[in-house]
Amino acid sequence: MALFSMHHFAYAGPNLHCESVDLAAVVQLYGTPTYVYSAATMAGHYNRLVSGLGGLDAHICYAIKANSNIAVLRHFANLGAGFDLVSGGELRRVLAAGVDVTRSVFAGVGKSEAEIRLALETRIHAFHVESEPELIRINHVAGKLGVKAPIAFRVNPDVDAGTHAKITTGKAANKFGIPLDKAGAAYAAAAKCPNIAIRGVQMHIGSQLTSIAPFVEAVKKLAPLAATLKQRHNIEYFSIGGGIGIVYKDALASGPRDWWTSQPEDTRPITPETYGAALAPLLKPLGLKILIEPGRFLVGNAGVLLSQVEYLKRGQGKNFLVLDAAMNDLVRPAMYDSFHQIVPLRRDTTRPAITADIVGPVCETGDCFARDRDIQQLSEGEHVAIMSAGAYGCTMASRYNSRCLPAEVLVHGAAFDLIKTRENFASQIAGENIPAFLK
Ligand code: LLP
Repeated sequence: MALFSMHHFAYAGPNLHCESVDLAAVVQLYGTPTYVYSAATMAGHYNRLVSGLGGLDAHICYAIKANSNIAVLRHFANLGAGFDLVSGGELRRVLAAGVDVTRSVFAGVGKSEAEIRLALETRIHAFHVESEPELIRINHVAGKLGVKAPIAFRVNPDVDAGTHAKITTGKAANKFGIPLDKAGAAYAAAAKCPNIAIRGVQMHIGSQLTSIAPFVEAVKKLAPLAATLKQRHNIEYFSIGGGIGIVYKDALASGPRDWWTSQPEDTRPITPETYGAALAPLLKPLGLKILIEPGRFLVGNAGVLLSQVEYLKRGQGKNFLVLDAAMNDLVRPAMYDSFHQIVPLRRDTTRPAITADIVGPVCETGDCFARDRDIQQLSEGEHVAIMSAGAYGCTMASRYNSRCLPAEVLVHGAAFDLIKTRENFASQIAGENIPAFLK
């Protein structure tokens, strides 16, 4: 197998580069905090997943929620991807990227009438239906438009994904999908709806899975249902959802080696090959099209958040490296206690290392990217990269503390361009208004 680096972030000389771009140049032009994405890393992951699933009639629907910048969407569409979307906003983003939604699926527990209408009008590939009331609503809206709505039910296999409680979805206790033992009745009800066309079956058990076993267990549980549905309702596809985990620890250290296989065996992540090899024997006999909805896997290691050091604050028995990025820019550490490697933009091995809490300026203790982290001593005005921030980074950013949303940059070889201008204060308060009764 050809050597495949997990991502295209590496030091060339003392400076951290993304592909052939010196990240210091990005900082100089666009300031911080700024997300930087590698187009080559996204393409590398996409293509490797396609080949890992080689034995199957597989179609990738990139889960937009992980990173929804329209340039990123266009890049994946150019590579051949469809999309997994969960709101009218995400649907409009696909259109804004210059792509139609005929290869996209629409998931989520709370689709509004307006969203259903928009998806039908723009010819969505299918709705992933999460409840019978939703089925009734889709049938109703389709009737008003005089069309048939394509659907698949999301079926909850009641499997423990073994991941963080906030991102596990496939247990009976979660709000997602319909129980396996109710699936037959739900499809029978759908078959009776005059404006519904049954197309498939769907599952998604959680995110950041680092073991293949829960995927295998869930697919084994749903495969008999998929086979029955093919016979009974002539379904075309089985969507096995997203959730493939990535490695966050020591992301940079593994350098240009094959990232997956260079990890120690006990912490080795799911690779596209192990994923494909474990699932293909279960899926292939079904003779169905297989949809897969990866988000994090395609973009997580492809992005970093660049930030400037504001202060090195020496507290009582503790150091704090205060950055200009904060939990509003990247909420994952505060929300999921997630680990992100943090490295200096300019490496200087002659400097001493310090142990510090790496924090943002937001007025909350939770605004902390890393606790007691060893890092090269850095001072005011120098920069760091927060690694593996390409998924659920910018899409989860907020304006908390009235901070402006960060800029985003896409790198392609030696070229780079701004794909989202940093928000300014005027646009931050553009919709706000002081009513007459206060004046
Ligand atoms: N399909 C469905 C129906 C989903 O709900 C999700 C993610 C995906 C696909 C994509 O999952 P992925 O391949 O990215 O694991 N904000 C959290 C992750 C939330 C995931 C929500 N659903 C985080 O930062 O870890």
